[in-house]
Amino acid sequence: MTDPAFAPDDAGSRPLWLVEQGGDGPVWPAGVDPAFPRAAGFLGKAGQVCLLPGGDGVSGALFGLGRPRTPADRPARERFTLARAAEALPEGAWHLAGAPEGYDAAHGALAWLFAQYRFDRYKTADAPRARLVCPDGVDAAAVLAMAAGEYLARDLINTPASDMGPAELEQAARDLAARHGAGVTVVAGDELARDFPMIHAVGRAAGPGRGPRLIDLRFPGDGPAVTLVGKGVCFDTGGLDIKPASSMGLMKKDMGGAANVLGLAETLARMGRAGGLRVLIPAVENAIAGDAFRPGDVLTSRKGLTVEVNNTDAEGRLVLADALALAAEEAPALLVSMATLTGAARVALGPDLPPFFCDDDAVADALYQAGRDHADPIWRMPFWEPYEAMIEPAIADLDNAPGGGFAGAITAALFLRRFTDGAQVYAHFDIYGWQPTAAPGRPKGGAGQGMRAILHALPRIA
Ligand code: BES
Ligand code: MN
Ligand code: ZN
Repeated sequence: MTDPAFAPDDAGSRPLWLVEQGGDGPVWPAGVDPAFPRAAGFLGKAGQVCLLPGGDGVSGALFGLGRPRTPADRPARERFTLARAAEALPEGAWHLAGAPEGYDAAHGALAWLFAQYRFDRYKTADAPRARLVCPDGVDAAAVLAMAAGEYLARDLINTPASDMGPAELEQAARDLAARHGAGVTVVAGDELARDFPMIHAVGRAAGPGRGPRLIDLRFPGDGPAVTLVGKGVCFDTGGLDIKPASSMGLMKKDMGGAANVLGLAETLARMGRAGGLRVLIPAVENAIAGDAFRPGDVLTSRKGLTVEVNNTDAEGRLVLADALALAAEEAPALLVSMATLTGAARVALGPDLPPFFCDDDAVADALYQAGRDHADPIWRMPFWEPYEAMIEPAIADLDNAPGGGFAGAITAALFLRRFTDGAQVYAHFDIYGWQPTAAPGRPKGGAGQGMRAILHALPRIA
């Protein structure tokens, strides 16, 4: 993993002024002569760049922010505006020489670092060219911690299943634990079959060295008892209810929930806020072989509830259920699950706006507001009680895949909630974990979702 970095704070950087588009044209910052940018057609539109001549080359630059906006009304597609400067400016170090009153320089700095992410495991990528000196008054360590969490999540998701199976995901968790002094336990083999029967059932058809396991990380120190559970399906073929090629193509990203909880743990640990944190990852491959679990099988979960398998492609909720049951046993103050759980969530809200579910209105508001204010939008959906009947029609306590095809994100969330009794608050995020087309600060590929919403809401929750 490449670490996010700012340019060193020396005298060698060039000035960058951020310019808003006012009613009568650009709002020229003090110290900038508007003659040249005016003649060059610079209007301050969002993303517009104007290089300023001087000396024997480029002496500085203006960057347009568009119309003034507060974080609350900043549209999601403009949320990383300054990322475009990182991509467009010539090589070298730059410093913010001026920005409009109230500009969120910490957010701009994060956007810049987000734009500099490269996935270079398999091919040499062009190195980031324009680097930012951390702006005055910005907590560099905090911004770098957030960027490092995002980089980690992206790296884990982008790595194909051939190099990111359950064993490699375990290794990534062990590496994280070693970096930050956390303890790791891993349950696998016969013990997994006995204590976490659904994790075992889903993962047992995977090939040699790729067996199912439950990864359990604990961070020492005082802090609120927060447990994060991430879906770690390293590849989802659909199992015997095999996915068509068009749906299977991206399924290396089905450990996106695990990548996000690890990313968030990395950020919290770098900020010194991981005390009391626990991270659980059921890591499996939903594969096809003679010993694969079958449609119609009835599984007895860790909690004791029986589950009829109506569709082997609804595997995420099975592995999460056993991990959530373990988490709930110690009654954490906050229990969170993150998972690339349903196609239905994408149908409802699209790839960019993950739904989350939480029964506690105050916690839900805190999460929503933190997401909105930190460019990590999420949208609340309900644990809709009347649909409980949809997950219990068969010969067992629960059915993993209700027929009818309606409300698929809700019924999946209701299924998970059945395993969380004991947790004081439960919140579930049904994320996509993938950026389908490149946008400012968000290259195509693995994507963090919900991490900053949770990070910034935590002080208000637990
Ligand atoms: N990993 C998929 C969900 C998924 C698909 C997430 C595409 C993001 C993009 C999950 O395991 C799955 O296959 N869910 C099924 C559930 C159904 C069989 C009840 C789905 O959503 O179609
Ligand atoms: Mn599936
Ligand atoms: Zn899946």
